[in-house]
Amino acid sequence: MKSSFPLVSLLAAVVVDAAATFDPLDHVNLFIGTNNGGNTFPGATIPHGMVKVGMDTDGNHFAGYDARPEYNVTGFSQLHQTGTGGAVPLSNFKLFPVPHCSAFEQCLTTIDSRKTLRKLLPDGSPDDFASPGYFSTNLSTDIRVELAATRRTGLHRYTFPSSSTTPRILLDITNDGQISAISPELNIDPKTGRMQASANFATSFGPGRYDAYACVDFKGEGYSFSGPSEWGPYKINYPDKNGVDLSQHYYSYGSEHGGLLSFPQNTKSSTTTILARIGISLISTAQACRNAEEEIPHWDFDRVVSDSQKQWRDILSRVQVDTTNVDEDTVTLLYSALYRTHIVPGDYTGENPKWKSSEPYYDALYCNWDTYRTLFPLMSLHDPENFARIVRGMINIQKHEGWLPEAREAGQPQFIQGGSHADPILAEFFVKFSDHAAKLGVSSKDLYNALLADAENQPPNWNLQGRQADVWKEKGYIPSDTTYPGGANTKQVSRALEYAFDDFAISQVAKILGKKSDAKKYTSRAQNFLHSWNPDVDAPDGSGFSGFMQPKFANGTWNYTDPRHCSVNDPLKATCFLNAIRRDGFYESSPIVYSQYTPQDTAQLIKLQGGNEKFIDRLNWIFENNYFDSTNEPSQQIPFMYHYANAPGFSTQRARQVIATSFNSTSTGLPGNDDSGAMASYTAFYLAGMYPLPATKQILLSSPYFPKISFYNPVFKKTTTIKAVNFTGNPANGTGGNVFVKSVKVNGKPYKSNCYLEWDVFTSGSTIELELTDDINVTCGMGKDALPPSISTGGYN
Ligand SMILES: *[C@@H]1O[C@H](CO)[C@@H](O)[C@H](O)[C@H]1NC(C)=O
Ligand SMILES: *[C@@H]1O[C@H](CO)[C@@H](O)[C@H](O)[C@H]1NC(C)=O
Ligand SMILES: *[C@@H]1O[C@H](CO)[C@@H](O)[C@H](O)[C@H]1NC(C)=O
Ligand SMILES: *[C@@H]1O[C@H](CO)[C@@H](O)[C@H](O)[C@H]1NC(C)=O
Ligand SMILES: *[C@@H]1O[C@H](CO)[C@@H](O)[C@H](O)[C@H]1NC(C)=O
Ligand SMILES: *[C@@H]1O[C@H](CO)[C@@H](O)[C@H](O)[C@H]1NC(C)=O
Ligand SMILES: *[C@@H]1O[C@H](CO)[C@@H](O)[C@H](O)[C@H]1NC(C)=O
Ligand SMILES: *[C@@H]1O[C@H](CO)[C@@H](O)[C@H](O)[C@H]1NC(C)=O
Repeated sequence: MKSSFPLVSLLAAVVVDAAATFDPLDHVNLFIGTNNGGNTFPGATIPHGMVKVGMDTDGNHFAGYDARPEYNVTGFSQLHQTGTGGAVPLSNFKLFPVPHCSAFEQCLTTIDSRKTLRKLLPDGSPDDFASPGYFSTNLSTDIRVELAATRRTGLHRYTFPSSSTTPRILLDITNDGQISAISPELNIDPKTGRMQASANFATSFGPGRYDAYACVDFKGEGYSFSGPSEWGPYKINYPDKNGVDLSQHYYSYGSEHGGLLSFPQNTKSSTTTILARIGISLISTAQACRNAEEEIPHWDFDRVVSDSQKQWRDILSRVQVDTTNVDEDTVTLLYSALYRTHIVPGDYTGENPKWKSSEPYYDALYCNWDTYRTLFPLMSLHDPENFARIVRGMINIQKHEGWLPEAREAGQPQFIQGGSHADPILAEFFVKFSDHAAKLGVSSKDLYNALLADAENQPPNWNLQGRQADVWKEKGYIPSDTTYPGGANTKQVSRALEYAFDDFAISQVAKILGKKSDAKKYTSRAQNFLHSWNPDVDAPDGSGFSGFMQPKFANGTWNYTDPRHCSVNDPLKATCFLNAIRRDGFYESSPIVYSQYTPQDTAQLIKLQGGNEKFIDRLNWIFENNYFDSTNEPSQQIPFMYHYANAPGFSTQRARQVIATSFNSTSTGLPGNDDSGAMASYTAFYLAGMYPLPATKQILLSSPYFPKISFYNPVFKKTTTIKAVNFTGNPANGTGGNVFVKSVKVNGKPYKSNCYLEWDVFTSGSTIELELTDDINVTCGMGKDALPPSISTGGYN
């Protein structure tokens, strides 16, 4: 399986077969990051499905699942997020198989009394299996559980042992991971066993609550029954036999409610297999039932699995690699990362609780702050159609709510972490696909209006949507000493830096639309990061570096934040997460990191820091003293910043060292939250030997971890291939190796730069050949366009 290339010299027919044996699904490990805080979702979903059916364990895990064997299974729920923090999101409508009770009324139904360990494999790990579109586990009760999903419907298969003479399945309505449910409702049809349920739940990263609805039907597999043999709702540990709703059940907040059904055993077989089909909706139970009936009318579990595998294979096969001299771990790291970039946002089209529209509706944005840097640029390479639909959904939200979404869960705006980062997402789409926008259903006029709304109109609450636009327009920074009504007066410096980048993104769109004065205006606002640069602040660690982004008062004088703040070397050990109500000005990264990263104008930053050598010294200082933070997005581009100082070999080595030390294919193989695939997309770019500059036509270039990697783009119908000509393998620890890019040819001709690629290389489908060397002292080249662009050196075009 590992490599098909030894066969290349054989018959053409054999070669075709051999290529066909490489199935990317065989190289996806869904358990990466399910332990150690990655919070990834390993259950069953289609690409960008709304429903994500998965196993929930105790410990209130963010994506439901914990890989550690001592964690008990609490249920199999239908919606999830992936890689998030905050409170536990969307673990709604858990189903749970009950193997045996002495009588219906004696069944213990609460989470604490029903929870069950998994069976263990000889190596002590739980007997769980997952591959794209499918999840299974064996419980210690000898019940086997298998899960599959369509867009809005989950299909569960429960196989009970012969000792389960009365197999039962419960539907838990109130345990959504936070026990936040109010107003639970249940209706049981005793004839068919159909259970319709709903409740109102809390969101996980902000204010607002949402209604969710479920509709469950049951069917025997390999035998048939006409309905349940017993039924009833439950409260806590008291099932009420023959009841059909919760009306008799005194409801109290925090109490557990649900429904329980008993089924006849399959007497013709040693095991009894029962399918549970559960449709979900944010609109109504009737719509939940309709979703289930329309999406899985056939009740064919294997067909649901193979249909979703087909969708996953289609997306993942757009990235192809030659695996010669590459270890399986690296191949798995790549395809698993690629997989995790397609779990969210979720396609909730038809399930927008707030208004009706024929436009697509995508939800589960958590958050754009995380994903604008690398996730959407990765979609540009191989999945522009889904990207276009997500953009349309965002524009539609802006039309109805006034501002683009930033973070969103089940229709509710959630907390903003910094700027308004739908701006660079829309700009990323438009800069790269303006010629195809109309065909993809994206109106350039609406897109531009949506960007201007973020940039110009201050919202009533900038914690949730939009920006603190008024003072930004007035001063070009966010004063740190003034309390403005309308949102939290925190993160002033990091927000200002992000507003500047967002305005840069808008300038890029304005240019394409021929709006010259707008382009000029937003380009100038993009340079407002200079207002936060205080040249007189010294690094307090004696390193001699000076000049940092700092908080500024309304009167134009400076406050002071220790540049080490929010780093592991912070003397105050501040976390700098959203709940930190302080006035230091920074979010989730140190002033040191924020001072090294203004992607729109790195040349300016180099000038401020005293030239290339100083800039390189400063980058080295960051890495050698642990200021680089692999767990948070503002650090993602830092390893590649050497490119701008004409020292791309150092970027290559730093990037590879980051992968070697912080990312691997074990369940603990993520350094922190996967952040809705943000970390995954960054991993995928690093492994491909690239780093994207969102909202531009340039992609920074390093060397891939493969002798050959190609991206198929279905909008251009073109494949672009990067070949590492004298690839000899990857250094295990990321240090040294024959991995430095000495020269670049595109379609056989020497290229203008060794440090970046222009987007037209991808639109036309090119072959990029990299000549590699073991000399780290390579350069970007000699020509005037060798260095990647910056606003102050002529700008992006
Ligand atoms: C699993 O359940 C058992 C029995 O209730 C309990 O003792 C144990 O602590 C649980 N495990 C975890 C990780 O909570
Ligand atoms: C569970 O048990 C079944 C039947 O014994 C076996 O085929 C399967 O591999 C086991 N593991 C999982 C994760 O389903
Ligand atoms: C500027 O504002 C700060 C904080 O409000 C204050 O401490 C300082 O004295 C002011 N400086 C001047 C020159 O007004
Ligand atoms: C200046 O910064 C310090 C440290 O972050 C903070 O405690 C103080 O409140 C700030 N001063 C003003 C006037 O905002
Ligand atoms: C895998 O990555 C994690 C997270 O960065 C790290 O803690 C762990 O040591 C790594 N494990 C291996 C075997 O490299
Ligand atoms: C790399 O390949 C080029 C062209 O094939 C060759 O000239 C060069 O010697 C090779 N370098 C190394 C280090 O193998
Ligand atoms: C990394 O590996 C190379 C050779 O594989 C070795 O020479 C070097 O000392 C290692 N460096 C570190 C920091 O472990
Ligand atoms: C790269 O340059 C540095 C100093 O400029 C030098 O010490 C080092 O030996 C060079 N490396 C190689 C592989 O030539």
